[in-house]
Amino acid sequence: MYNEDTKSFEEIKKEIDLDRLPQHIAIIMDGNGRWAKGKMLPRSAGHKAGVERVKEIVKAAGDLGINYLTLYAFSTENWKRPKDEVESLMNLLVLYIRGELNNLHKNGVKIKVLGDIEKIPLLPRREINKAIKKTKDNDKLILNIALNYGGRYEITRAAQLVATEVKNGMIDVEEITPDIFKKHLYTKEQPDPDLLIRPSGELRISNFLLFQIAYTEFWFSDVYWPDFTKSHLCRAIIDFQKRVRRYGGIKG
Ligand code: FPP
Repeated sequence: MYNEDTKSFEEIKKEIDLDRLPQHIAIIMDGNGRWAKGKMLPRSAGHKAGVERVKEIVKAAGDLGINYLTLYAFSTENWKRPKDEVESLMNLLVLYIRGELNNLHKNGVKIKVLGDIEKIPLLPRREINKAIKKTKDNDKLILNIALNYGGRYEITRAAQLVATEVKNGMIDVEEITPDIFKKHLYTKEQPDPDLLIRPSGELRISNFLLFQIAYTEFWFSDVYWPDFTKSHLCRAIIDFQKRVRRYGGIKG
């Protein structure tokens, strides 16, 4: 569990081996509510502060040369939260896109959504669709926003899509392989995450990218997401680069 660093960002950054970067980083942005509570602020203030970290981390990931960044913004279970909290999250998403879209586009960021976007209220849905359309030809950094996303739902949905193809005679049952199945996930054509980061001290996956994380390296920290800086991101990458990935084989 990593928490604090005494070195500056520039010093930490130098420790990264830029030839061995993780291609895909996924983040569970957790702890906004507890951060706000600790400061006697409403939970929405925690989410607002969380958006500032989104801006910093997206910029840092792009500058470092990360190709895919997946951020867990809203789960299929988050609808259970009070109505005003759900509304504030949706509003923040709209403000984020309105405020950042031109900048993201200029920096070659392609925005994608993982999740069932049709259930998202009209205004945020329109903004997101606009962002997806505007950035569709960019390829420097693919920014996946997991929105109304749940891993179990994603897998079930993929099973339905494959089953429909079987029913329509497009594929035989025997032809279904993990690779074929993967093509029906929201992340189709994308590499699996190499590194999954969860701040806030929680040591669980919470229905995130269940199929894709089979061989992902995990990195946890006690800091709440509104305190998560680009230095933490660098430290996670440095730790990742010390891991030996065997994919079930033996060390090569
Ligand atoms: C978890 O903290 C965080 C969320 C459910 C929302 C994350 C969303 C944002 C940071 C802002 C919107 C996203 C984008 C991409 C602009 P929590 O509220 O569960 O924290 P707690 O466990 O301390 O209560």
